[in-house]
Amino acid sequence: MGTSNDRRTFIVSNRLPVRVHHERGRVEVVRSSGGLASALRSATSIQEWIGWSGGPVPQAMRARVRELLTAQGLMPVFLTAEEERHYYVNMCNGTLWPLLHYFPGRVEFDDRSWPAYCEVNRRFADTVLERTVAGDRVWIHDFHLFLLPQLLREARPELEIGFFLHVPFPSSEIWRIVPQREELLRGLLGADYLSFHTADYLRHFRDSCLRVLGLGANPDSIQSEGRRVALGVDPLGPDVATFQAVLDTEAVAGQMAQFAQRWGDRRLLLSVERLDYTKGILHKLRSFARLLELEPERCQDTVMLQVLVPSREENESYRSLRREIEREVGRINGTYGSPGRMPLEFLHRSIDTSELAALYRYASACLVTPLRDGMNLVAHEFVLCQGHDAAAQDAARGVLVLSEFAGAALSLTRSLPVNPWDITAVARAMATALQMPEPERKDRMAEMYEQVLQLDSAGWTTRFLRRLDRAAEHNLQNQVAPLNRAQRRELGERWRSARRRWLFLDYDGTLREITQRPENAAPTAALITLLRALSQQANTQVHLVSGRPRGVLGVWFGHLPIHLCAEHGFVHRAPGGQWVQPVEVDLSWVPEVDAILQRAVDEVPGAFLERKRCGLAWHYRLADAGYGPWRAQELRQHLDQLLMDRPAATLSGHAVLEVRAKGFDKGSYVAGILPQIGSDDFVFCAGDDRTDVDMYRRMPEGAFVTNVGGPSPEAAHVLATPTNLRDLLQTLLDTGTVQGN
Ligand code: UDP
Ligand code: G6P
Repeated sequence: MGTSNDRRTFIVSNRLPVRVHHERGRVEVVRSSGGLASALRSATSIQEWIGWSGGPVPQAMRARVRELLTAQGLMPVFLTAEEERHYYVNMCNGTLWPLLHYFPGRVEFDDRSWPAYCEVNRRFADTVLERTVAGDRVWIHDFHLFLLPQLLREARPELEIGFFLHVPFPSSEIWRIVPQREELLRGLLGADYLSFHTADYLRHFRDSCLRVLGLGANPDSIQSEGRRVALGVDPLGPDVATFQAVLDTEAVAGQMAQFAQRWGDRRLLLSVERLDYTKGILHKLRSFARLLELEPERCQDTVMLQVLVPSREENESYRSLRREIEREVGRINGTYGSPGRMPLEFLHRSIDTSELAALYRYASACLVTPLRDGMNLVAHEFVLCQGHDAAAQDAARGVLVLSEFAGAALSLTRSLPVNPWDITAVARAMATALQMPEPERKDRMAEMYEQVLQLDSAGWTTRFLRRLDRAAEHNLQNQVAPLNRAQRRELGERWRSARRRWLFLDYDGTLREITQRPENAAPTAALITLLRALSQQANTQVHLVSGRPRGVLGVWFGHLPIHLCAEHGFVHRAPGGQWVQPVEVDLSWVPEVDAILQRAVDEVPGAFLERKRCGLAWHYRLADAGYGPWRAQELRQHLDQLLMDRPAATLSGHAVLEVRAKGFDKGSYVAGILPQIGSDDFVFCAGDDRTDVDMYRRMPEGAFVTNVGGPSPEAAHVLATPTNLRDLLQTLLDTGTVQGN
């Protein structure tokens, strides 16, 4: 694969590039069909490819099959017949496949398929863990293994984990149909790098993470449990080397001569695909019939060959589609055929690469009209074979008719684009292809040929692995590894032996998980017990430094012996004392800002306004996950301009835009306490968002500063979740303190 280092690479996919057949003790290995197998078939320098052997293999034969396959660098994962049914047939092909391809009406749910999916993903994880060591690269493919990245991450955090999705990722509106939408997304987020065929699929995935999991994202990454999951777009093209190797052979020349004999002066319209409802086969056949109806002379001078590669015949929907297609073929030939001249030919079998290359080369047009397709390699392969050795080829180039719902439409820009649902428009595109003047055909094909070479699957592999390395490197450097035992011991020792201890803790997102409604984030009994126990340690002060209004903090924590700081440093109180508030604050700007924010509340469903003594907070966590942040950004720009010369400032927090009097922040609160802190004192500070950075900046030297949820440039340590922080604080408690200090 030509990557820059000698790290071992393991490929993991549901299907190996070969399937095992056995009959009466004889084992036969045959090629797998479909885009994934084609993409990786000629990838070299792979340590091993781990995947299902295809079909149930009896226990007694497994050792032999394993031996046969491992000799070829393939490591089989065996499934029982039951697992095959519930995991592969039902969950993968009956639920996920139609969902990912925008066929919600075909989605089937079966109670046993989800447990089987989890179980098989775990089985894959066990096999990967047996074969790999820390530092190896694991490249996981496709929707069968959505849970695998996270399973591997939990078991062996130092693995480099990449994932590529070979199918579309649908809009979040479709994605949310699947009951296990959260678990599936979380499974994927165990990867260092997640990549898609097109930017649309990436956008949909990011949007689903936002709407389903509430995870915010940058254009090219998602922050999850303290790690950065890089997102990318790596469009996949054909296996150039494999096709180039057969194109100039005698086998292909021989096949083409046979085609010329068989079809004479009739022009060939070619279609090749797995027999799958996503491919729009019936729609296309109807378009062909419409062409024959519109231009009857085509019955004589044109023939259409439909190659259907058998696929997923275990699913009834695939079997019934086959029957429907056969009926449609019969109907068309019955209507438009004449003795010896059937306009539609139909092959229901796999074909080998040289026959396929010959067909691609011979055809006058290739009809690739899926209703939805992640990429579609057939379109690329057709262009590759047509454009090959152009100078030596005297025949005119063919034309590609391509559905706008295939990922390939974005890269093959000189095809004839069609909407496959529009039967007449596709028929007209077929006619246009057949009539297109030679110079235009050549021109289009030459340009697309260059595009296809750029997408060569060998280059794709190298690009993907390079990006994976970069993403993993980033995570390694910014590791959110939980503090190791030695670090915890050292922290505990510092805590135990310090003369005095100071804890500065933010609340929402830090001590307690963010909830949809702020009032639902009340402290649990366990958290209250923890805070009380901490504050009861000898010479220990706990300061809760929050943006919440004083009233809420008073109700929730007023009975504890801790210091409270509310409204981002504006007011504070010592345990059991009165709230202290600065005397003079210019709040003349409030009415104007209040009116603007109130208008935004009216305009954005779900948004609400919180009025505090020193300012206003516009919350949008209950608003639409896309519209809320967008309006917040716009509001902030507007308010920043308005308040330029006024004693107020805006601040963005987690799903909240705050406007508050200048001169107060969490940092100014800490600054007021700093003079009391001695150089040998133990100081611990934890927060989670931008408002806490003001506090981090004021921390004295030697303070232990940790950011929860992801790295912050101002905090030396990171913890993934509030649970991790609570656990860490509990560890300090368990360490105890040296009494009498
Ligand atoms: N193909 C195959 N067996 C055949 C004919 C074709 O495996 O008998 C290959 C074809 O060369 C192409 C792949 O199947 O590489 C189909 O990939 P595509 O992306 O078009 O669709 P998918 O099957 O992945 O949905
Ligand atoms: C598509 C999927 C692949 C799958 C292939 C063949 O290309 O993206 O993951 O291997 O179809 O389907 P099958 O169910 O036979 O593996």
